[in-house]
Amino acid sequence: MALPEETRRFDIYDLPRAFLDDPFPTYHRLRETDPVHRNRDGTYYITRYDDVARVYRTKSMTSDKTEMYVAKFGEGPLLEQHTTSMLFSDPPNHTRIRRLVAHAFTPRAMTALEHRVVELVDRLLADCAANGGMDLIRDFAFALPVEVVCAMLGIPPAEREPLQRWSNAILTPLEPVATPEMIATGNQAVTEFKAYLRDVLADRRRHPERYGEDVMAELLAAEEDGDRLSETELVQNCIFLLNAGHETTTNLVGNGVNALLDFPDQLRLLRERPELIDGAIEEMLRFDSPLQIGNRGVSEAIEIGGVTMPPGTQIMTAIGGANRDPAQFPDPDRFDIARAPNRHVAFAAGIHACLGAPLARMEGRIAIGQLVERFPGLRRAGDVVRGGRARFRGLVSLPVAV
Ligand code: HEM
Repeated sequence: MALPEETRRFDIYDLPRAFLDDPFPTYHRLRETDPVHRNRDGTYYITRYDDVARVYRTKSMTSDKTEMYVAKFGEGPLLEQHTTSMLFSDPPNHTRIRRLVAHAFTPRAMTALEHRVVELVDRLLADCAANGGMDLIRDFAFALPVEVVCAMLGIPPAEREPLQRWSNAILTPLEPVATPEMIATGNQAVTEFKAYLRDVLADRRRHPERYGEDVMAELLAAEEDGDRLSETELVQNCIFLLNAGHETTTNLVGNGVNALLDFPDQLRLLRERPELIDGAIEEMLRFDSPLQIGNRGVSEAIEIGGVTMPPGTQIMTAIGGANRDPAQFPDPDRFDIARAPNRHVAFAAGIHACLGAPLARMEGRIAIGQLVERFPGLRRAGDVVRGGRARFRGLVSLPVAV
C-alpha cells in the first residue's frame, strides 16, 4: 500500500518548525500509516506504544552507541561522556554502575532532599508573589532542578553558574542532527566540566570533614563487594547525573503548567482536589513528555511491526508518540489528571528506566502542587516560547501573572 505523501516525506533529520512546535499530529499519522518508519540512513523511528515498550523491555537491545557516536562526534571528550555514563552501557557493566549510583537515590537520600525542595519552592514562589508574576521557566522550572541536583552533589551556589551552559552544550549534540559547532562546544564543555569535578573530588578526598552527608559523599563511599566506581566512572556519571536531572525536570514543570493553563477545567479540578497531584504529574509526563526520543540498538535480530531488523540496526523510540497512542490511552489528546491506568513510558522502561524518577516526581509534585495551591489567579501573561528541539521538548519562556 502506498504511503500518504506527508508520511513518506517525514524526515527525522530535517524536522520542520511545525513538528517541533506540535509533533502530535505527525505521531498520529505515522502510527496509523507507518508505525515502523524507515529513516533515510536505515535506522527506524517507532511510534506505537506496544512497540516502544517492547523495545525497552527486550534484554538483547543494546544502549552502547560507541560505533554510532564515533561516526557522529569523532574521538574526544564528548565521545567519552556519551559512551562511559551508565545510560550508554550494557550489562554487566551497566548493572554494576547502576547499583553503585543507586546509593544516591535511596529513600533516605530522597527524604533529605525533599526538605530542600520545599524550602526552595517556597522561596521562589515568595519572590513570584512579591513581583506579581514571573517567567515560569527562567525563574522557577529552570531554577529548581539546578539547585536540587547541585545540592545533591554538594556543588556550592557560587560555582553553579557554568553548569547550565555545560549541560546544554553536552546534551545538544544528541539531537538527531549535530553541527560541527555543536560538537566543538560539546567537547569543550566536557573538558571544562571534567576538570572542575576532578578538583571537587580531590578537595573532598583531602578534606572530607568540610563536606556534609550529601549524595556525592555516598557516591565516593559507594562500594559493594569490594567494587567501587573508578575516577573516570565517577566523573562521567556525575556529569551525566547533573545533565539528566536538569533539563528533563525543567521540561516536566514547564510543560506541565502549560498543559494546566491550556485545560482550565483540569487546573480547577487540581485546585479543588489537591490530592490528585500525583496522578496529575503522571499525566503531565505522558501528555507532553520532557524527553521525546530514545535510542536502542538491535543486537539479536528482531521483528517489529512486520519489519525484520538485523543486528546493528538502530531504533529511535518516539516516547512522545507512544504516550499518545489511542490503543493504550483512550482519548489520548485529552489532558486528564485523573487518568487511570496511566502506564506511560516517559521514564522509559526495562533495565535503563530512569533512576531519578522518584526525585523528578517529588520535585514536580512540590513545585506544581505549591504553585497551584498558592496562586488561585495563576494565568499566562505573555507569549509562550518553545525551545525548538526534538529530543528535549520544553519551553524557554512562559510568562505568568499571579
Ligand atoms: C521528568 C524528569 C525526567 C525524565 C522525563 C527522565 C527520563 C529518563 C529516560 C527516558 C531515561 C531512559 C533513557 C534511555 O535508556 O534511553 C532516563 C534515564 C536516567 N535518568 Fe532520568 N529523567 C528525568 C529526571 C531525572 C533526574 C532528576 C535524574 C537524577 C538526578 C535522572 C537520572 C537518570 C539516570 C541516572 C538514568 C540512567 C539509568 C540507566 O541507564 O540505568 N533522571 N531518564
